[in-house]
Amino acid sequence: MSGLIKISPSILSADFSKLGNEVISLEKAGADYIHIDVMDGHFVPNLTIGPEVIKKLRPLTKKIFDVHLMISPVDNFVKEFANAGADIITFHPEATTDVSKTIKLIRDQNKQVGISLKPKSKIDLIQNYLKDIDLVLIMSVEPGFGGQKFMPEVLEKTKTIRDLINKQNLNVDVEIDGGINFENCAEAKNAGANILVSGSTVFKENKGDLKKNIEILRNN
Ligand code: DX5
Ligand code: ZN
Repeated sequence: MSGLIKISPSILSADFSKLGNEVISLEKAGADYIHIDVMDGHFVPNLTIGPEVIKKLRPLTKKIFDVHLMISPVDNFVKEFANAGADIITFHPEATTDVSKTIKLIRDQNKQVGISLKPKSKIDLIQNYLKDIDLVLIMSVEPGFGGQKFMPEVLEKTKTIRDLINKQNLNVDVEIDGGINFENCAEAKNAGANILVSGSTVFKENKGDLKKNIEILRNN
């Protein structure tokens, strides 16, 4: 885990009629990662983008594509998202019958591996895999939509996971995702998150001043 706080704006809140320009603007505004929410209308009750869109966005920026797969079954799409240009591929343990197998599928594509926990999903779903992955994505909203209210009850789980990672002396990032705003970003970091995902706060606050919003989230 790098010492610095990273901001990974979610393009789910971007203007989909000009997604390429939005990604370029995020890079110019100082985003560390680009968070790409992939939804299949099956694992979550919403449908967003697939590998073809990511393929078109890839040449526009060198920024890390932090791809959050809210799809199931996930295994058959890992290779496609890897080839499309994902750098981090994060999946939900409930979306596979064999977490180790999915981790290996992502590793075989030389991509960073993330596992995501929904607000009500327990740590024991992932704690045996911490040594095998690069990132834990803690959902602080029920997955499926941007603009939802932050669920502070996940902060306890965030602290526990950060402690488990530190105790095992692992280099695993903790990313928090959902309802992150200027009021709760500090407590998310204090709980141990070192990467903050934000969609609506980055795109909507301060009349959509991306650079200012990213800086506030990073520095507060
Ligand atoms: C929700 C997505 C989140 C969401 C974040 O299922 O995984 O990444 O887009 O958007 P905000 O920051 O608006 O909650
Ligand atoms: Zn997400």
